Amino acid sequence: MLPGDFQLQKYPRKKLALFGVLSIVGVFILGGTVLALVFVISSWLGRPVVFGFNDGPTQPIAFPHTVHVQDLELDCTFCHRNVTLGAAATIPAVGLCMTCHKTIGDGLPEVEKLRTVFEEGQPIDWIRVHRVPDHVQFAHEPHVRFFSERGGISPSATCSTCHGDVGSMVVVEQVRSLKMGDCVDCHRDNGAPTDCTTCHY
Ligand code: HEC
Ligand code: HEC
Ligand code: HEC
Ligand code: HEC
Ligand code: HEC
Repeated sequence: MLPGDFQLQKYPRKKLALFGVLSIVGVFILGGTVLALVFVISSWLGRPVVFGFNDGPTQPIAFPHTVHVQDLELDCTFCHRNVTLGAAATIPAVGLCMTCHKTIGDGLPEVEKLRTVFEEGQPIDWIRVHRVPDHVQFAHEPHVRFFSERGGISPSATCSTCHGDVGSMVVVEQVRSLKMGDCVDCHRDNGAPTDCTTCHY
């Protein structure tokens, strides 16, 4: 054999190995870049996709805000009746849903579920999306009143400040942290009290 033959065989094999290593490194770099981009873009939009807030839970009945708020133009306070009155906004009882769904929605599986629940006289165990810990007190009424008076807007137009555009959500998700820092920042910006006992018992 000629020495040249050896070289011809050895050289491509080395190159091949190098190419293999480089492509593995490349895949990692690409993967890392994509992940970093998703992070930057999602935090830019204020809606973390990775390690962020949970997606909305799967509810016992798939109640779409879209249909009721956007299509039917129902006011938030039509269902969340206590939101302008006290601490909890409250979720309506099945009876309120049935004022329409006794007759509306024949054949829709989720509406049939609703009717069964109503006939059995059971409440619906809706899964909570927003919840502050027990040692924190939050009340809707002062917030809704403050922002609607200051902005000259309806009570229902204030909800998006903390909940985002619920009317466009098929499944309600949390879009704002509503952690202590978030609460305190907004209180400071609006001249609301920031002493510990405002929010802690
Ligand atoms: C037809 C009745 C109805 C109307 C109108 C309605 N909601 Fe709801 N809402 C519900 C029901 C039922 C739930 C519980 C199921 C769920 O989370 O989707 C709910 C849940 C929510 C939640 C999540 C509660 C939690 O667990 O943290 C928020 C926030 C909310 N609604 C805000 C709004 C806002 C803002 C509007 C007006 C733009 C509105 N809703 C209009 C019935 C209604
Ligand atoms: C003012 C009347 C009204 C009230 C009150 C109302 N709905 Fe509806 N709902 C409708 C209409 C109209 C539709 C659309 C029906 C259709 O597409 O044929 C609908 C659709 C639905 C659907 C089916 C969505 C789909 O396409 O699968 C569900 C589930 C539902 N409503 C649940 C509820 C629940 C739960 C409540 C009470 C918290 C409620 N609705 C209160 C009028 C109402
Ligand atoms: C200043 C921020 C803020 C505003 C404005 C606000 N919410 Fe909330 N909302 C919260 C927080 C925080 C919670 C969790 C409260 C808890 O765990 O006790 C919550 C919980 C809820 C819940 C579920 C628990 C409950 O109270 O029944 C519903 C429904 C709700 N909000 C609807 C509304 C509606 C409708 C509006 C507008 C009329 C509104 N919110 C305005 C911060 C806000
Ligand atoms: C978007 C701004 C904003 C956010 C976010 C916010 N608050 Fe407030 N909060 C206010 C304002 C403004 C007032 C004062 C209302 C008034 O003057 O009656 C207030 C009032 C209160 C009050 C009543 C104080 C009193 O004695 O009158 C409590 C309690 C409270 N907030 C708790 C919270 C908690 C807990 C959170 C977070 C989970 C929170 N707030 C998030 C703006 C905010
Ligand atoms: C505007 C409302 C607000 C005020 C004012 C406030 N907090 Fe909080 N705090 C919260 C909320 C909401 C949480 C729960 C969410 C979280 O962990 O951030 C919390 C959580 C906490 C926790 C528990 C943290 C943990 O990891 O579980 C401590 C401790 C605490 N607060 C202490 C204080 C002290 C001390 C002050 C006064 C200097 C204060 N807070 C003032 C809203 C408030």
